[in-house]
Amino acid sequence: MSNKEKFITDLNSKYNPKGDHIILGKGMLDGEIVTDVNVSIPLKTVNRHGLIAGATGTGKTKTLQVFVEQLSHAGIPTLVMDIKGDLSGIAESGTENDNIKERYSKTGLPYSPQNFPVELMTISGAKGVKLRATVLEFGPILLSKILGLNDTQQSIMSIVFKYCDDKALPLVDLNDLKKVLQYVTDNPIGKKELADDYGSIAPASLGAILRSIVAMEQQGATAFFGEPSFDVEDLLQTRDGKGVVNIFRVDDIQSKPNLFSTFILSLFAEIYMTFPEEGDSGKPKLVLFIDEAHLLFKEASKTLLSQIETMVKLIRSKGIGIYFITQIPGDVPENILSQLGLKIQHALRGFTGKDKKEIDKAVENYPTTEFYNASELIQNLGIGEAFVTALNEKGIPTPLVHTYLISPESRMDILTSSEIDDLTRNSDLVRKYEENIDKESAYEILNKRIEEHTQTVIPTPTRGRTAQPKEEAGMFETVLKSSAGRTFTNTLMREGARAILGMFGLGRRKR
Ligand SMILES: Nc1ncnc2c1ncn2[C@@H]1O[C@H](COP(=O)(O)OP(=O)(O)OP(=O)(O)O)[C@@H](O)[C@H]1O
Ligand SMILES: [Mg+2]
Repeated sequence: MSNKEKFITDLNSKYNPKGDHIILGKGMLDGEIVTDVNVSIPLKTVNRHGLIAGATGTGKTKTLQVFVEQLSHAGIPTLVMDIKGDLSGIAESGTENDNIKERYSKTGLPYSPQNFPVELMTISGAKGVKLRATVLEFGPILLSKILGLNDTQQSIMSIVFKYCDDKALPLVDLNDLKKVLQYVTDNPIGKKELADDYGSIAPASLGAILRSIVAMEQQGATAFFGEPSFDVEDLLQTRDGKGVVNIFRVDDIQSKPNLFSTFILSLFAEIYMTFPEEGDSGKPKLVLFIDEAHLLFKEASKTLLSQIETMVKLIRSKGIGIYFITQIPGDVPENILSQLGLKIQHALRGFTGKDKKEIDKAVENYPTTEFYNASELIQNLGIGEAFVTALNEKGIPTPLVHTYLISPESRMDILTSSEIDDLTRNSDLVRKYEENIDKESAYEILNKRIEEHTQTVIPTPTRGRTAQPKEEAGMFETVLKSSAGRTFTNTLMREGARAILGMFGLGRRKR
């Protein structure tokens, strides 16, 4: 048997999923494309996470595009963190050019240019579905993280959240939180309530928290907090059998890595809490892709990193796959890297000693191969070629295969601004989240309370003592009956789930 025949037999016996699968490309041996070898990934193990790595310009983003398209064909929706803003073209059909023609003729696969259903999403003012969360959903710990608070300030933040919970003050947007902080700092009743139940807190610390919120508002974080908060179930759309590609445009996040990692973590947590356990469904429910993933880990604190690590581990059982796209595998922390089942490794360049070490480390982590000199070939892989190793349906790593990737069927270039206008104008989801609802929340309730108090207490101080508890009971009922109150109850339940998770919890009374 020739080496090529052995390669075909060997690879085909390992890359032969019985169930549903997607094809990323064809195997290569000695620089030649072997059309008899399909590099196929079973859908069953797509929730076992993965990595797409490689030097700049080697084809990572295009591989991501191909992957997302194939999942869409299989009816699986995706969420793509598009940091450089270069994936919107998925919404339009590709056009055949010489490059693509050549690529497809080499693979022997048919090229059928087509577009895919896309939703654009944003947390800034850009066009698209507005992703929002309430301050309460975000929780005191994550919020402290993005505000850069120290440990003392973080525990004060947790107390303030607890106080709002006890006093039925829904924290929806940043105005609510600012108002509460002012109330417990400056208002005699607020001050007393806080001190009676939780001990006295230095006004200087409260002032520092308030200032950090104002600073964050100046960075444009206001748009993110509010209602309606984004329902992660809306990420699960399919259209005409194709999974919707949700493209989250985070072009402006590069300068705020801390905000980015906190946001991603809150998204993981929300997905984890919302979706039921999937069992062994045979295919993933949703797949997340994080391009430029080094930003996620760059400035993350140890706690944040270990929380991300835990979430990556837990979220798998919900049928969610997470894929990190970055230049070198070493950008991803060891504990997360070791959880990744699929690895698509584009070329690495060994210019410096450090580069060479990274190459050795990457190669060490791949299955040994008799068909390639991996540490040499890894530096010479062509654009749109990669080393691939996946997990077969039994969860066993498949052999390393030099893969010639197919090309995207959708446009490899971005959308024009008028195409973006059309796309967002026709989206039901954009409409659903367009309006910012300002329901009655802590801000309005406290304003009312301060007003009522000056009316009842000041003219006849003796009545104040009896009037106050009554007034509070009345208010509690009003809050619960109002729609904001219902949301508040819901978010309490979610916070409860977070507490159970032991990640963001406040040690809730109600379980
Ligand atoms: N599968 C492919 N089919 C056709 N062309 C490809 C493919 N992969 C890469 N290319 C070509 O290579 C170029 C660079 O690819 P891509 O943008 O995916 O690189 P990258 O690794 O994401 O780079 P960066 O690190 O700069 O983001 C593409 O613009 C395209 O022309
Ligand atoms: Mg890229």
